[in-house]
Amino acid sequence: MQAILVGFMGSGKTTIGSLLAQQLRTQHYDLDDLIVQQAGRSITEIFAQSGEEYFRHLEQQTLSQALTNKGILSTGGGTPTIAPNAAVLKASSTPVIWLTAKDQTILERVTQDQSRPLVNDLDQNSLLQLKQKRETLYAAVADLTITTDYLTPLQIVQKIQEWL
Ligand code: S3P
Repeated sequence: MQAILVGFMGSGKTTIGSLLAQQLRTQHYDLDDLIVQQAGRSITEIFAQSGEEYFRHLEQQTLSQALTNKGILSTGGGTPTIAPNAAVLKASSTPVIWLTAKDQTILERVTQDQSRPLVNDLDQNSLLQLKQKRETLYAAVADLTITTDYLTPLQIVQKIQEWL
């Protein structure tokens, strides 16, 4: 991979990853999409039928396979929170970029979308507690941090390109 994007749900990993790949004329991979393709089920179905632990198992397998590809990888919000994944991300020579946003921005972005099991299962306070708890884990794997609240997707991508 040429770059890996991490961050909480709603931080813009998929949007930015796809735009960055377009600008760099390379392939974009979304870890959730790869998991869905391999499992033949949606993320919601995997969580509902097999549970989060099984989803994390698929996520770990898919991450190590995906890292050998060339391009930009957008991870899932929980990817770096699993110790073996954090270790793989830290050990990899690929730059890891953490996209952050304020609580309010995240809530505005995620509550419109029904496709995230954790958003459907948690109330707003618990979701924000999870966000806070995960921030040190994102920080631990990140080589670059970008606060996305007041930037357009293109401005974020330009910042990444300048840094890469
Ligand atoms: C998750 C985030 C989701 C997806 C799954 C679990 C998480 O990805 O992997 O629903 O634990 O934060 P996005 O961050 O792309 O929404």
